Amino acid sequence: MKPVLLVLLPAFALAACGGDEAASPASRTETGDSTSAAPAPADTAGPIDTASNEQGAETGPDANAVLASLGGDYANADLANGARQFRRCQSCHTLAEGGRHTVGPNLHGVVGRAAASADRFNFSSQLSESGLTWDLATLDAWVENPRALVPGNRMSFVGLRDAEDRRDVIAYLAVETATE
Ligand code: HEC
Repeated sequence: MKPVLLVLLPAFALAACGGDEAASPASRTETGDSTSAAPAPADTAGPIDTASNEQGAETGPDANAVLASLGGDYANADLANGARQFRRCQSCHTLAEGGRHTVGPNLHGVVGRAAASADRFNFSSQLSESGLTWDLATLDAWVENPRALVPGNRMSFVGLRDAEDRRDVIAYLAVETATE
């Protein structure tokens, strides 16, 4: 939404000025040619540009394939929102491969992994003995309310109440792991 507004506002300003030579910039729309095949983002190399996921055009096939493989509503996840939500986790977690454990364990590859199995992190016995595997459902419950899922664990995080925020941040964990 916002980028489109930012593009259109100067165009309106120009139109309002009424200069007879100023017509053309306003007519440049963002719709592009809908017949062109793959969206072909400018930066195909390097990390996924999560910021543009809302437009659905520039995430590249890898991120979309990962989202599709998660199934269900995860295919509609908003990775830009996931990245935003992950900022709340970043005070305690790194996500990059080989990232350091800080207050919490590094989360690279956590989706699908047994709970408390990251190397060299001192997990609580509660989490170690939980027997959980971090699939989409257990992650969702954990991020919503870690204490309810594993009483006595050491993650002091109030939880994300909004189901879409949880979906998006979990999708972000999966995509960042798979595409890095
Ligand atoms: C205040 C610090 C803190 C915040 C904020 C935090 N965590 Fe944690 N997290 C921890 C700690 C500490 C543990 C280990 C808990 C234990 O051993 O009982 C943990 C564990 C986890 C685990 C289990 C890892 C494993 O290998 O079993 C996941 C998944 C996780 N956090 C995800 C998140 C997400 C997603 C967010 C943000 C929405 C978040 N955390 C926010 C501190 C935090």
